Amino acid sequence: MIKLIIDTDPGIDDAMAIFYAAAAPDIELLGLTTIFGNVTTPIATRNALRLLEAADLSLPVAHGAEVPLAMPPFSPSAQVHGSEGFGDIPAEIPKGRPVAEEAADFLIRMAREHKGELVLCPIGPLTNIALAIQRDPDFVTNVKRIVIMGGSFEEGGNITPHAEANIYHDPHAADVVFAAGSKVVMVGLDVTHRILCTQEDFSAIAGQSPELGGMLQKMSEFYLAFYATVGKFDGCSLHDPAAVIACTNPELFEMRKTPIRVACEGEEIGATLADTTGSRQAVSVCMGVDSDAVKSLFLKRLALLP
Ligand code: RIB
Ligand code: CA
Repeated sequence: MIKLIIDTDPGIDDAMAIFYAAAAPDIELLGLTTIFGNVTTPIATRNALRLLEAADLSLPVAHGAEVPLAMPPFSPSAQVHGSEGFGDIPAEIPKGRPVAEEAADFLIRMAREHKGELVLCPIGPLTNIALAIQRDPDFVTNVKRIVIMGGSFEEGGNITPHAEANIYHDPHAADVVFAAGSKVVMVGLDVTHRILCTQEDFSAIAGQSPELGGMLQKMSEFYLAFYATVGKFDGCSLHDPAAVIACTNPELFEMRKTPIRVACEGEEIGATLADTTGSRQAVSVCMGVDSDAVKSLFLKRLALLP
């Protein structure tokens, strides 16, 4: 059993990851923190509350940073996740409210209270994590692991030819996090582009889980339509669920130890590059995956949902 907090910009694959965590018997989900990326932070917080209510989970949601560490603010594109974050599903006002504590302070406190046990799974831009590292010199010591959905080592980018979206949306924050070294695991496009789900998969999920699986199936229609325009994949990538599964089942991933730095300017801004300065500890970069095993774990666990 792992103690987990997901930092999220929900987001269709974020919703899949959060419902997976809700269904996984080996995960004790302690809360969600929210960040801009697929949507603005206010919409991310609204959507996070809505997902937990749909899954009948009473857990804290802490509202995160609304702008990147150093880059100018940007307006999220609706192209991949829709203007409200869940494809064509209309916005819904949740009953609950976020906690008063902002995300970075919530993460600092939870890491302290669960010293050596808390696994952090950021599946959006890394602003909240970087702020926690900058505010608390013990934060990296206190957390057990930071398993990031983000980056790309040899696969190229998805928002530019060089950069993956989560890193691109706050490269300065990502560089702070990758400097944290050995506790960091990077689950990037090198592996997530190999874990794909099709319309048939989501129909099967909805057949076994009419409520939550049905919600994911509806969202996936929009997500699959975007992927069809990319013309490279037979289905859509399970980016965020892969990162959550890497938290509990690291044996399904082949990891390479290398120090990473993030390009913070120029043509390659947002690229995750091997650091050759000798000044950084190696992180674990996922370069291989048993994609069938990850996908079947995802489908099996989601089928348990109502
Ligand atoms: O590049 C994929 C990542 O960007 C995923 O986390 C997706 O939800 C978006 O945030
Ligand atoms: Ca995400």
